[in-house]
Amino acid sequence: MIGFSLIVAMDNNHGIGKNNDLMWHLPRDMRFFKSTTENQVVIMGRKNYDSIPEKYRPLSNRQNVIITRNKLFNAPNCLVFHTLDEALNHFVNDDREIFIIGGGEIYKIAMNIEGLDKMYITNVNGVFNADTFFPSFDKSSWNQEEIMSQELDDKHNYTFKTYIYTKISDK
Ligand SMILES: NC(=O)c1ccc[n+]([C@@H]2O[C@H](COP(=O)([O-])OP(=O)(O)OC[C@H]3O[C@@H](n4cnc5c(N)ncnc54)[C@H](OP(=O)(O)O)[C@@H]3O)[C@@H](O)[C@H]2O)c1
Repeated sequence: MIGFSLIVAMDNNHGIGKNNDLMWHLPRDMRFFKSTTENQVVIMGRKNYDSIPEKYRPLSNRQNVIITRNKLFNAPNCLVFHTLDEALNHFVNDDREIFIIGGGEIYKIAMNIEGLDKMYITNVNGVFNADTFFPSFDKSSWNQEEIMSQELDDKHNYTFKTYIYTKISDK
């Protein structure tokens, strides 16, 4: 099974979005997302793709991959697959890091695939009125390392901390 990663920003209740949009504007986290995924592969659900403003999609300097059940769907300069397994298998001999970038439905599928071995999680300190959530997971199966901390300032209305979780091998 191919190893792959996931990247997400969530609130204190695991909320990640509302009305097919993000719930905060955190430039430093956006920069972190961009620099971490740049030159790599990003896999997203069709709704997440739709939520990206047209002028920013496909996300630049990354292979964009969209998952949909719609056999007729296509999007310029994107690869389209109809299952996440199919999408992951496409990159089996690829050196790039494979990132699942959401949204909620796609994260849920990814969390149940054995190859998920790294998660980049930003915890936004607050509770928002989300309608889409990141699944709960067993933290004892993961090593957690804090890599970034943001205080309130003129560009950030919420504090956040970013962690890298690495799967603890069973062996
Ligand atoms: N905070 C964060 O880090 C973050 C990151 C990403 C997104 N988000 C937020 O998450 C929300 C979107 O998430 P969402 O859960 O509504 O949608 P999503 O996961 O982005 O996309 C759902 C779509 O994926 C396709 N899909 C789902 N399961 C499938 C399967 N088993 N096989 C084939 N295709 C499948 C379907 O597309 P079709 O309907 O075309 O068949 C489905 O409608 C937005 O609010 C967005 O802003 C937040």
